[in-house]
Amino acid sequence: MTETLQTPAVTEDRSAEVSVRDLTVVYRTDRGELPAVSRAGIELRAGEITGLVGESGSGKSTLALSLLNAVPAPGRIASGSVEVAGVGDVTKLEGKRLRRVRGGALGYVFQASQNSLNPLKTVGKQLLDLGRSHEVEDLQGLVRRARELAERMGLDADRVLDSYQHELSGGMRQRVGIVLALVLNARVLILDEPTTALDMISQAAVLDIVRAVHRENNLATLIVTHDMGVVSEVADRLAVMYGGRIVEHGPALEVLQRPSHPYTRALIGATARIVGDTTRARALPGRPPDLTTLATTGCVFRDRCPLASAVCEEEDPALVEWTPGRYRACHADPTGDRP
Ligand SMILES: Nc1ncnc2c1ncn2[C@@H]1O[C@H](COP(=O)(O)OP(=O)(O)O)[C@@H](O)[C@H]1O
Ligand SMILES: [Mg+2]
Repeated sequence: MTETLQTPAVTEDRSAEVSVRDLTVVYRTDRGELPAVSRAGIELRAGEITGLVGESGSGKSTLALSLLNAVPAPGRIASGSVEVAGVGDVTKLEGKRLRRVRGGALGYVFQASQNSLNPLKTVGKQLLDLGRSHEVEDLQGLVRRARELAERMGLDADRVLDSYQHELSGGMRQRVGIVLALVLNARVLILDEPTTALDMISQAAVLDIVRAVHRENNLATLIVTHDMGVVSEVADRLAVMYGGRIVEHGPALEVLQRPSHPYTRALIGATARIVGDTTRARALPGRPPDLTTLATTGCVFRDRCPLASAVCEEEDPALVEWTPGRYRACHADPTGDRP
């Protein structure tokens, strides 16, 4: 284990800012509606950074968008609930009430943050649009707060507010995305692949900033990433996703030091930053499924699993608490390497 691992925050009995229960999200395809997220549950608590990790295609972005009830067509939330403290079940909201929650209670930074910025408007103009769409009366106050946030993130606020997205570097855009996500005093910050397009130095800077604003504002933060190295640096809790399922979750340090699900072990084994060197990091064998190749019976990971046995062909393992605070969805013995 490397020294970069953070000590987990104290997590006892904090009430959840966001509680996702039994969430299933489907996309319409040539073969009918297929699930990209299946019966997923997750809780985001104030003061905690949750890392949601898994290979590309595992359903992370779909789950993250569901928190805002913003899954784009041809997708839809088929069942389950997303309770947000002080708001209610966002899967039941629509129209103006839903728009107010997005960017209001829930701050969201899209995957490849370019998407969240309008290329045709300066950042300052977009900030004012955001304020107006949320019926902010004190627009000057809003600009002041945006400036403060921007300066705290090491940005030149004057310059950034006058800039178009193409005039900003990837790292700057990512920070602007965070400013816009937080400027309305969101209590929940959701970041989808916040470091993916960045070089290592900008990655480290963005993660430092996320950690700092998270602490200062006592946020409930969700970081979605395919990169185990990223979550190992910032997450207090870890949820591992595969084939639309959350297959393991628990305190980050424990999951990283003693992964229980064979998929988590494989992901960690493939991460040079955690294993300690590139020669020992082994690529994950096989490929992640897409919606059309995903197994509909049995365990979704069994084709790539070194521990697969007959039961894995037939029964989809439920996510169960196998030891206090640790959850996994696997038929194999949680402590040993044997089924
Ligand atoms: N608009 C869409 N239409 C059909 N399938 C989609 C759509 N968006 C995503 N998917 C499928 O849903 C699955 C999960 O995608 P996504 O949530 O983007 O995963 P991740 O963020 O983990 O890479 C993938 O198999 C993907 O191909
Ligand atoms: Mg994604």
